Amino acid sequence: MTDMLQVRVWRGDAASGEFRGYEVPKLESQTVLDVVTYIQRKLDPTLSYRFACRVGMCGSCAMTVNGRARWTCRAHIAKVAEHDRLEIAPLANLPVVKDLVTDMSVFFDKWAQAHGRFQGAATRKDDFARVAPSTVERKFADAGIECIGCGVCYSSCDVVAWNPNYLGPAALNRAWTLLNDVRDTGNRARLAAVAGDAGCHACHTHMSCTERCPKQISPTAAIAGLKRAAMAAALKGEI
Ligand code: SF4
Ligand code: SF4
Ligand code: FES
Repeated sequence: MTDMLQVRVWRGDAASGEFRGYEVPKLESQTVLDVVTYIQRKLDPTLSYRFACRVGMCGSCAMTVNGRARWTCRAHIAKVAEHDRLEIAPLANLPVVKDLVTDMSVFFDKWAQAHGRFQGAATRKDDFARVAPSTVERKFADAGIECIGCGVCYSSCDVVAWNPNYLGPAALNRAWTLLNDVRDTGNRARLAAVAGDAGCHACHTHMSCTERCPKQISPTAAIAGLKRAAMAAALKGEI
């Protein structure tokens, strides 16, 4: 045990890059984001990374830490460092802008492709919808609603790596959440959008997304629900 961490950080842009080494003092309750911040503030101000809330709400701080995608603001060094060593890289499966910053455009474009936007029919003159917590639809919708759009699942998914067109676990989880929202009116088009070759049927149920989601969401279960719903809609000739 020493009082220093040996940290390798990926530096570069979309064209090329390399890992560079830094020594960072170990502190109590230190997170991976604290380490990256120390490097930028004390050792190398040219290091680029992204964060906002620091409390697990905004989803902007995800990186690859010792080979595994994580949110970094709540990833404690005590749990993730191996023999006081850290290797920090940008999220996989996304283009690198610079250093630890990835371009999330494709990730959010896929939410749009999966019809991830609520589409209601009520007007401001209507009363509030009342959806009882005991209903199965509410249970399914609530299960995935806490997604913070961090990209950890997307970066961990082998199918995304093999097939860049695959909508991916987060967009499909969002589609399943809305499919179970009884106020939403866009489900036929949504199901058609997620039932194609790059949609729910491409998932191989590897579970990496579910194992790594920092919000304990199960995109795998959501995708299984979409597969059943898409099959039922196809049998009825609805999509
Ligand atoms: S369960 Fe499906 S979406 Fe999740 S990581 Fe595996 S292949 Fe990707
Ligand atoms: S499902 Fe989980 S891992 Fe995926 S984007 Fe949402 S919060 Fe992040
Ligand atoms: S900085 Fe917002 S989730 Fe980590």
